Amino acid sequence: MCGIVGYVGKQKAATLIIEGLKRLEYRGYDSAGVAVWQNGHIEVAKKTGRVANLEKEAARHKLTGTTGIGHTRWATHGGVTDANAHPHVSSDGRIALIHNGVIENYASMKKFLAGKGYTFASETDTEVLCNLIAYHYAKEPEVAGENRLLDSVRKTLRHAHGTYGIVVLAVDRPGELVTARKGSPLILGIGDGENLVASDVAAIVSRTQSVVYLKDGEIALLTAGSFSISTLDETDVTPVIDKVTWSISDAEKGDYAHFMEKEIFEQPVALENAMRGRFSEDGSTAQFGGLNITPAEFRQIERFMFCACGTALHACMVTEHQIERFARMPVECDYASEFRYRNSPLFPNTLFFVMSQSGETIDTLAALREAKRKGYKVLAVNNVVGSTIAREADGGIYQHVGPEVGVASTKAFTSQLLIGAMLALYIGRMRDLSFGAGVRMVNALKGAPDLVRKALEQAPHIRAIAKRYAHHTDMLFLGRLSLYPIALEGALKLKEISYIHAEGYPAAEMKHGPIALVSEKCPSVFLAPQGEIFSKILSSMQEIKARKGPIIAVVTEGTELPAGLADEIITIPACEEIVLPIVASIPVQLLSYYIAVERGCDVDKPRNLAKSVTVE
Ligand code: M6R
Repeated sequence: MCGIVGYVGKQKAATLIIEGLKRLEYRGYDSAGVAVWQNGHIEVAKKTGRVANLEKEAARHKLTGTTGIGHTRWATHGGVTDANAHPHVSSDGRIALIHNGVIENYASMKKFLAGKGYTFASETDTEVLCNLIAYHYAKEPEVAGENRLLDSVRKTLRHAHGTYGIVVLAVDRPGELVTARKGSPLILGIGDGENLVASDVAAIVSRTQSVVYLKDGEIALLTAGSFSISTLDETDVTPVIDKVTWSISDAEKGDYAHFMEKEIFEQPVALENAMRGRFSEDGSTAQFGGLNITPAEFRQIERFMFCACGTALHACMVTEHQIERFARMPVECDYASEFRYRNSPLFPNTLFFVMSQSGETIDTLAALREAKRKGYKVLAVNNVVGSTIAREADGGIYQHVGPEVGVASTKAFTSQLLIGAMLALYIGRMRDLSFGAGVRMVNALKGAPDLVRKALEQAPHIRAIAKRYAHHTDMLFLGRLSLYPIALEGALKLKEISYIHAEGYPAAEMKHGPIALVSEKCPSVFLAPQGEIFSKILSSMQEIKARKGPIIAVVTEGTELPAGLADEIITIPACEEIVLPIVASIPVQLLSYYIAVERGCDVDKPRNLAKSVTVE
């Protein structure tokens, strides 16, 4: 949730760290801070609010040192105050620490440390951890050939229960950083005469494209000219250096007002990237390189289980519908956060999937681990290369859509829908989906980017509608079959970025309760494309209209609705059922985006949210 950056080299650390923090601000924006070693002490600047506030504060501190650590916070323990902002410094002034995660046994540590005379200026678990490192550091003897700071951090972490990604700076070790992870991502950036550590590639890609993904239980020592990795039990680790495939411009807004806007309009290209090389030569099915499961093994599978959170769960729900419809196989879908504690009975020959843009969502990761513990093979659909979920899954499919920075997921969502549809095709072709049906579906999927381009042409029209509806406080999103999850997604998008209360429902279910909300003050967005139950959706619209509810109808181009039924009409191009959820997502994304802009909301950094949720 929080953003972490550490730098050791020859440049002014604070400048580079603050630049990195700006790119990580989407991870948390309650407060930000930086600590730099200079002139024999650790100088700290920190401030509640955005990184821009920190930048002003840092200017006052004249931070010139070349080793430092920085952090953007999404509050867990303790309110949003300057004192609770990271970095924290131990009460003896010798250790500074930034931390992402939660230390569960911080209360007993605090009691122990208070008994030893340590004092605390904040309410955070991080400050407790920092003081425990200082305690061990003070006790640890200096032994030739060993690193006292590294040993003290190791000792401390052996006592820590919970999750952490940390970076430590010591007052008497200029030019050194110690970093360690368990349950929170950390990436080392290997530069030329400088090294970095960050919670996300976006923070370091302007300095280097050579990275090492730290694993759980590993600890690293960084200096300007070297880095070494070992485990908490002191086993040396041989690092694997990976190359990041995207560049800094992928993580910048360019001419767009918001990352969300950029990412919405990037979707045609994102879909092209997600499908590249993934259709068979005969053009009748999909193919995936990283599933790590043979077609023969796949044929033994009798059912599928999908787990995810938020938007990714909505993508799983569409995939459930499509695998059942096109491959005629049973699928179950669950909130990852519920699955992990529900102890639900799983059938043998079940193949487990998790979906996660970030690959770091703690609930999804826990569901993956729970399924593996029960002996199931788990595959992941995931965007961030090298993420924890990607590494712990038995195999999977990368989304290949580049960094998604906007907190509200858009291009990651439609690429998950695409991969879900390709899975339905792949599984269907192993069963009784004919060659001809397969070819037709492949052609439909290949046409998705152009259909999305066409749907995006409605943007100015949708913007005008958004202006007329932005003052509302409640809204319903209604859809059926594979568009029911798109209705859920439309409601989620609107809620999270515009703070309008919104609910998604299967259109026909609305009369069993939610219709009580309908009045001229509560508009309904109907996803009403042509199809076998179009007439049923029209009936639901009539029921809303009879109660004076305003209707925004998303319909297939060329559809003639009964006069006066809809107040607003948005069209999408006619398309095959397999791509319909992708195409129908575009108007709900645009509508939510433009309503939020109209309301003056901070679209890319909605209140209380963070891009990836790495705490329970
Ligand atoms: O990184 P993940 O896909 O695992 O994230 C899951 C959810 O936290 C995420 O989709 C969230 O719901 C988004 N803010 C929705 O726009």
